[in-house]
Amino acid sequence: MIRFITTSFLTLGISLGAGLSAAQAQDDVKIGFIVKKPEQAWFINEQKAASQLGEEKGFSVVRLAGEDGQQVLSAIDNLHSQGAQGFVICPPDVRLGPAIVNRAERYGMKVVTVDDRFVGSDGEPIASVPHLGMSGYKIGQQVGEAIAAEMKARGWDPETVAALRISNYELPTAKERTDGATQALLASGFVEGNIYDAPQQNTDTSSAFAAASPIFSKHGDFDHWVIYALNEESVLGGVRASEQYGLSPDQVIGVGINGSGAAFAEFSRQKPTGFYGTMAVSSTMHGRQTADNLYTWIKEGEKPRDNTETTGTLMTRDNWEQVRADLGL
Ligand code: GLA
Repeated sequence: MIRFITTSFLTLGISLGAGLSAAQAQDDVKIGFIVKKPEQAWFINEQKAASQLGEEKGFSVVRLAGEDGQQVLSAIDNLHSQGAQGFVICPPDVRLGPAIVNRAERYGMKVVTVDDRFVGSDGEPIASVPHLGMSGYKIGQQVGEAIAAEMKARGWDPETVAALRISNYELPTAKERTDGATQALLASGFVEGNIYDAPQQNTDTSSAFAAASPIFSKHGDFDHWVIYALNEESVLGGVRASEQYGLSPDQVIGVGINGSGAAFAEFSRQKPTGFYGTMAVSSTMHGRQTADNLYTWIKEGEKPRDNTETTGTLMTRDNWEQVRADLGL
C-alpha cells in the first residue's frame, strides 16, 4: 500500500514536471560534463565549477563518470534521454574520440573536450572538436625548470642525481608534459643516462606507485632522486614509493602538475615530504570555460575555437595558499 502511494505521487510529480518543462524546453539548456576520473580532486573541481556557472547563467549541468568506453556511451545515451543538447568530456581513452563523436552526431549533440584531446584513426587530434587543455610541453618545461632550480638550491651535483620519469605515452598530453620536463632538465645539465622510465597503466596514484617501486630498488646506488609525471597524483605515487624504499624527503624532489586537492593535502602535512611542488593550473577555469563555450555554442550557434591552451604557476609548500586563492581554487 505504502509502495503504491509513493509510486502514484512519483508519477504525478513526473507528469507535472514534464508538462512544465515541455513549455520551457525550447529555451532550456542542459549539458553533460563527463570525466574519466570522477574521484580525482582535479575533476571534482572542474565539474563543480561547471555546475556553478550553470547556476549563475541559468542552464543545467549533469555530472557523469566515464571511466571506460562503455560507461561513456551509456552516459551519452542517458544525457540524450534527458534532453541534453551537448556535453563536455575528458575521455578515459583519447582513441575513443571517433566513437564518441559518432554517438553525439547521431543524437545531434554538440561535444567539446577538456584536458585530454580526442585522437582520430590517423593518430592526429580531431580538430573539428573544440578543445581546452594545458599547454603540455610548456607546463612540462616549467616542471623541469623548477626541479633544476631546487637541485641547485640544495647544492646537488647532477652526476649523483637520478630521475624517475613516470610516463604514459598512450596519452598525448602526458607525453608532451614529461617530454617538456625532460628537455628542460637536460638543458640544465641533467645526465641523460640517469633518467629512468616507469610507464604507468593509468593516470592515478596507485598505477604510478606500482610503476615506480621497482625503479628505486633497481637503481639503489643513487642518493638523490627527482620525480616527475603528467600530474601530481602520479608524482605522489612516486614519492610514496621513494618513502617505502627508505629515501628521506631531503633526498627527493618531486614536482607535479594540477594544483588540486591532492597537492593541498600534501602541503598541509606537518612535515615536508619529497613532494616539493606542483605546477598549478586552474581546474576551476577549465570547468567554467568549457561549460561556457559549450553553452554559447548551443545558445548562440557560435562554435568555440579549435584549441585553447592554458599555463601554470609553481605552487610549493611556501606559497600554496596564495596561489590557490589567486587561481580561484
Ligand atoms: C589529464 C590528467 C589530469 C589533469 C588533466 C589536466 O587528464 O590525467 O590529472 O592533469 O590532464 O589537463
